[in-house]
Amino acid sequence: MTVTQPLLITDAAPVPLQSLMPYETPVVVASIVHTHFPDAQTAIDLTYGHGRFWKNGMRLTVTGMDRDPSRAKDLVGDFTAVQLPDGSFDLAIFDPPHLADTGAASLMGRAYGSYRRLADLEAAVRAGCREARHIARIGWIVKYCDYTHASRTIFMLRWLTEEIGWPAAIVHQVRDPSQKPGRWEHQYSPRTIHSSYAIYRHDGPLHRERRR
Ligand SMILES: C[S@@+](CC[C@H](N)C(=O)[O-])C[C@H]1O[C@@H](n2cnc3c(N)ncnc32)[C@H](O)[C@@H]1O
Repeated sequence: MTVTQPLLITDAAPVPLQSLMPYETPVVVASIVHTHFPDAQTAIDLTYGHGRFWKNGMRLTVTGMDRDPSRAKDLVGDFTAVQLPDGSFDLAIFDPPHLADTGAASLMGRAYGSYRRLADLEAAVRAGCREARHIARIGWIVKYCDYTHASRTIFMLRWLTEEIGWPAAIVHQVRDPSQKPGRWEHQYSPRTIHSSYAIYRHDGPLHRERRR
């Protein structure tokens, strides 16, 4: 794999990091990087997609990978088996598909990827977490979502903790609650209006000063 023209993110004016972040994705990512990874200079985004993590942020050189060649900013690769040496980047960031069993008409499924069976999604997310840990020299961030699907709650956080342990911190990003929800004939569970970022560091979960 060749890496071409990484993106240099220089717009650094993050808002203070809070456990609940009612902000756009790049603001949340920038605040996490600023607070937890001030010592990071390079990052790989293993699921670059449309690059929505990176319109704002810290001074970080970001390499964008995706399995879909039309989305792979710098390299095409599979997050379940990344062909890069351990510790290749200071920071790895992983935003896997989180849907399984979506219908052909699902806009979310088409935009972000979906697996036929929940077990396949779980296996892929677990493998991606292991790969993120390997590739990261300093630490890694996994975006996940605990949500209701087919009458039950999918706890993605359980997959993460079983696979790579408990994170140093978790930050929740909340959507505007006034947004119109999809149609449910009856409601038996909460609407999910947030996603979460699990933050890991190789040097341990202690929250302390770190410098470049
Ligand atoms: C939830 S989206 C990521 C969105 C991205 N953070 C953004 O800002 O647009 C998941 C992405 O993972 C990619 N993907 C799905 N399976 C993959 C795999 N096995 N390896 C690498 N990328 C994969 C999809 O093409 C999609 O772009």
